[in-house]
Amino acid sequence: MSGRSARARFWPPAFAVPPRDRRAEGPGDAYTPATMTDVKTVFDAAGGMPFFESLVGAFYELVAADAVLLRLYLDKDDLGPATRRLTLFMAQYWGGPTTYSDERGHPRLRARHFPFEIGGDERDHWLAAMRAALAKVQPTPEVAAEIERYIDSAAEALRNK
Ligand code: HEM
Repeated sequence: MSGRSARARFWPPAFAVPPRDRRAEGPGDAYTPATMTDVKTVFDAAGGMPFFESLVGAFYELVAADAVLLRLYLDKDDLGPATRRLTLFMAQYWGGPTTYSDERGHPRLRARHFPFEIGGDERDHWLAAMRAALAKVQPTPEVAAEIERYIDSAAEALRNK
């Protein structure tokens, strides 16, 4: 498979990372395009499951201290199960193991959020908490940009009032 079609892969989002020895190091060096084996998922680029555990752990610490968000949670005293679901969802979305869907079926995020009234205020608090969690766990700029791009559109799509 050529590097071109590897880069055209739409989901999960992935980066083509040419290994150092394939990059042109100076004049006259041949440049070999990235091949399928060089494509790294965002999950791998971010550092795998520990990264998503830290990110969502930091996010839910902020949720626990945010009255606008916390009032939506049925079980305010135990955010552990919600933390686990979001961790597994994000890991799966970015190319990690499919444990989320194995346990919960198709994500159907919009349908699953209907029971919660999500307006502009809730969306903004959710995004602010996730951005602060990202700033805390400090992924590479490429990984941060990928996650920010997704959460911006997903949070707006989940607004239901
Ligand atoms: C827009 C602001 C949002 C609010 C206020 C919100 C709120 C909530 C609440 C109250 C729950 C129920 C807690 C639970 O899991 O038991 C939930 C579940 C969940 N949320 Fe959100 N959410 C928002 C955006 C998002 C976004 C952008 C994503 C995707 C990255 C997301 C992914 C999930 C997932 C995966 C679950 C668990 C679904 C399940 O398997 O039952 N949420 N959310």
